[in-house]
Amino acid sequence: MGKIRRLSDDLANQIAAGEVVERPASVVKELLENALDAGATRVRVDVEQGGVVLVRVADDGEGMGEEDARLSVERHATSKLHTIEDLARIATFGFRGEALPSIASVSRLTLTTRARGTPAGFEIALDGGGAPRARPAGCAEGTIVEVKELFFNVPARRKFLKSTATESAHVGEVVMLAALGRPDVTFTLARDGKVSREYLRAASHDERVRQVFADEVLQECRGERGPMRILAFLSAPERARAGAVALHVFVNGRPVENRQLARAVAQAYGSVLEPGRYPVGAVYLELPAAEVDVNVHPQKSEVRFQDARAVHDAVTRELYPALAKVFALPAFGPASRPWDRQQGLSSPPSSPSSPLSPHGYVDPGAPASGYPDSTPLAPSILPPTLFDGAGFYRRLTFLAQARATYLVCEGDDGLYILDQHAAAERVTFDRLRRAFASRTVAMQRLLVPEMVDLSPAEIAAIEGAPDELAALGLEARAVGPTRVAVHGVPQVLHRASPARLLRDVVAEVTRAAGRPFGGAMDLVLATMACHGSIRAGDAVSPDEARALLAALDGVDFAGHCPHGRPVVTRLSFGELEQRVGRS
Ligand SMILES: Nc1ncnc2c1ncn2[C@@H]1O[C@H](COP(=O)(O)OP(=O)(O)OP(=O)(O)O)[C@@H](O)[C@H]1O
Ligand SMILES: [Mg+2]
Repeated sequence: MGKIRRLSDDLANQIAAGEVVERPASVVKELLENALDAGATRVRVDVEQGGVVLVRVADDGEGMGEEDARLSVERHATSKLHTIEDLARIATFGFRGEALPSIASVSRLTLTTRARGTPAGFEIALDGGGAPRARPAGCAEGTIVEVKELFFNVPARRKFLKSTATESAHVGEVVMLAALGRPDVTFTLARDGKVSREYLRAASHDERVRQVFADEVLQECRGERGPMRILAFLSAPERARAGAVALHVFVNGRPVENRQLARAVAQAYGSVLEPGRYPVGAVYLELPAAEVDVNVHPQKSEVRFQDARAVHDAVTRELYPALAKVFALPAFGPASRPWDRQQGLSSPPSSPSSPLSPHGYVDPGAPASGYPDSTPLAPSILPPTLFDGAGFYRRLTFLAQARATYLVCEGDDGLYILDQHAAAERVTFDRLRRAFASRTVAMQRLLVPEMVDLSPAEIAAIEGAPDELAALGLEARAVGPTRVAVHGVPQVLHRASPARLLRDVVAEVTRAAGRPFGGAMDLVLATMACHGSIRAGDAVSPDEARALLAALDGVDFAGHCPHGRPVVTRLSFGELEQRVGRS
């Protein structure tokens, strides 16, 4: 008698459930996906005690006949795929034929269903797997799946469940993601008998995104590269969060967890987002099914791209000009929406799409981005864009400088107050960045070299990269084990202290070396820009103020300093009138 024995179906299902069913929210996710695959237009999710006691998902989809209903809870039974070729063009959420049997094996499951256009329904019930009990049942067209006492027969898994509040929050997140993915479907979530969220059928992604992110002002951006399409709704940089918790990425309608994609989105903000910070919002990528592998993980929350680098690169490059344009002014809050439109600031720029290169989406004409490179001083910078700020800043009338810090200006619809340092920094940064990208940062030689004391490691960093420093418009040579002489600084930064400039650049560069992803150069340039610009406390003449306003019009992300702070704030005449009681 050999030692190998075939697992029983129930045991095999329970083992599979370990991968698919982690917690009540995973049950909700699988049942929601089944409902959507069945063509539902309305889905209602009910949970009791965070879903631990009960998860019920009811849909108005196509339903099932008796034989299908019986088969649906059997392992490897699916209507969504029949050949391996089907997998390459799969358009449904499900295809593995294992969600229902897995869930059934670790809970008490009842499925009630009636196929569209048929007179009668059926009910299938299982307790921790086993043989299904079937009987006729009266019900509406569509399907209701009830999952009670999750993990009642797997105490080890039950122990891992968190508090009701935590499980309930996970359920809320899953429903929200499904709603973001499918604006055309109405989703209702009820907790312990009370409706807690309702996303009514929306006409567009834009409308659904606004239902979901009611408290955020998100700007719409679009891009296209080869056969890939990008639609994004993203927050201003100052609303960014540490970690990608509030940035939801969808690939062909499927919510995915993909760090690199989230980073590609964050990198499209250039320097205005610090590393590790991510905007709030939703990003939808559409690309041919054959270029995406969804069969990576049983929960299907991961995808693999045929050419991941090309996809990430396209996301960053396509979103950059769109974001630079929409954030030429910071978002002033929901009240500013109609005004934004009037200015044409929320209309996405048309970006020329390039033919698909043999490697994927790489634009053959574009310079190598170097973004994924983390080597210090690598030219990881985006090409300058041809953004024309539509003359917005130039049209403001400069009124006065306040507190030697703010420039007070009058616009058509209100008063605009600029932070003079932030504004000047943005302009200097943009000039430096363009010059750096075209390798034309002009250097001003110092008559008398300035001595700077640094650590041996910092000196080594400088000695190891003379060409890179020259590209930044800096020249420095070691004159001792802990001392360098600065011989030249970038011309645009002639007002800066060479010693402080060099120290900060070297600090930024050494810090960048350990960073897992690029964008380092933008931060170095941002640090440099900070030095050469008008500061708070500097007197600014009306001519200088007007020149600064004019310069802002030619600049990407003019509404934000290179570190992401807003440059300008507005007090609309409407608000002003309200305050003084005129309206
Ligand atoms: N709500 C529903 N309405 C109509 N048919 C359904 C519904 N839920 C499941 N089915 C049918 O039952 C089958 C099995 O569902 P199950 O979730 O187990 O597998 P799947 O969706 O095919 O693949 P996966 O395991 O990847 O989710 C489906 O292929 C579908 O035909
Ligand atoms: Mg399924």
